Amino acid sequence: MRSLVTGGAGFLGSHLCDRLLARGDEVVCFDNLTTGQRENLAHLESHPRFQFVQADVIQPVLIDGRIDRIFHLASPASPPGYMQRPLETALVNSFGTYHLLRLAQERGARFLMASTSEAYGDPEVHPQPEDYWGHVNPVGERSCYDEGKRFAEALTMIFVRQFGVDARVVRIFNCYGPRSDPNDGRLVPNFVTQALTGKPLTVYGDGQQTRSLCYVSDLVEGLVRAMEAPGSTGRVYNLGNPDERTVLQFAEIIRRVTGSNSPIVYLPRMSPDDPHRRCPDITRARHELNWEPTVQLEDGLRETVAWFRERLGLGAVRN
Ligand SMILES: NC(=O)c1ccc[n+]([C@@H]2O[C@H](COP(=O)([O-])OP(=O)(O)OC[C@H]3O[C@@H](n4cnc5c(N)ncnc54)[C@H](O)[C@@H]3O)[C@@H](O)[C@H]2O)c1
Repeated sequence: MRSLVTGGAGFLGSHLCDRLLARGDEVVCFDNLTTGQRENLAHLESHPRFQFVQADVIQPVLIDGRIDRIFHLASPASPPGYMQRPLETALVNSFGTYHLLRLAQERGARFLMASTSEAYGDPEVHPQPEDYWGHVNPVGERSCYDEGKRFAEALTMIFVRQFGVDARVVRIFNCYGPRSDPNDGRLVPNFVTQALTGKPLTVYGDGQQTRSLCYVSDLVEGLVRAMEAPGSTGRVYNLGNPDERTVLQFAEIIRRVTGSNSPIVYLPRMSPDDPHRRCPDITRARHELNWEPTVQLEDGLRETVAWFRERLGLGAVRN
């Protein structure tokens, strides 16, 4: 199969490229390198079935030949990433999604839209099942992202209903793992970098807000299953880990895994739209995709910490 991965130089996209190459696909990655890095793909540079194209998918996508699968992951993904690029974020999820859905229609490719748990906003239903419509501020500073993704979902379903495109949506909940950007302000990169460099761990708010973190290999497996599962056309799937913890608990576990003595400091909440609770209901993915996360938090964190140590030039893991 020939698969197109947009956002393939990013954290999740680069692992997805690895996974698709491992199953024997030819992989073309489109990325404009705004938040992604060539370094994430350095190990694939000379792979005979891999091609990198530096391109902005806000513009029409130019690609020759057959395409069997389109995984649309291109978009800034972290709050600092999208709040610094609100227009680009809104456009990659609107124009970008439109161009890629048209391409899927023209080439008869299957399409997967990488949406987000932020489509639920600051949820009033907990945990969030796919049929919960969400609680989103349509004009808040996060709206470039959450409303951008909601529009992308709507567009995807229009192409399913109106043009018979074989497309599905996955709502990804917070992920972590090697190749996540140390500077993008997300919880695990922040805490791990702070813990490893002896800086205080910065908790925004009282730390009682919850997150559920999914290790990258589990998430990538979910993306592939959602794309390939019979009956997945026109479906929406939550992909994430229902193992919900408070931000403070994550800070404490990361201190333990890194062996750090860094203190925890409290800062004001980053944004009034920052969700209080976040936990996926993955019943549908369990039943229809036979998927659930398998990597335990401490195991995933050990892998992640090892990668960050290397990246920060700190050498091998202690103990
Ligand atoms: N990582 C998570 O926890 C998480 C959670 C929910 C949703 N998602 C979604 O998964 C996808 C990947 O997230 P990630 O964490 O790997 O983020 P990332 O920032 O590491 O990767 C996104 C990639 O998209 C590229 N990109 C952005 N705009 C582009 C454009 N206009 N044209 C071409 N490429 C463009 C970036 O350069 C980057 O390589 C995103 O769509 C994000 O919304 C991720």
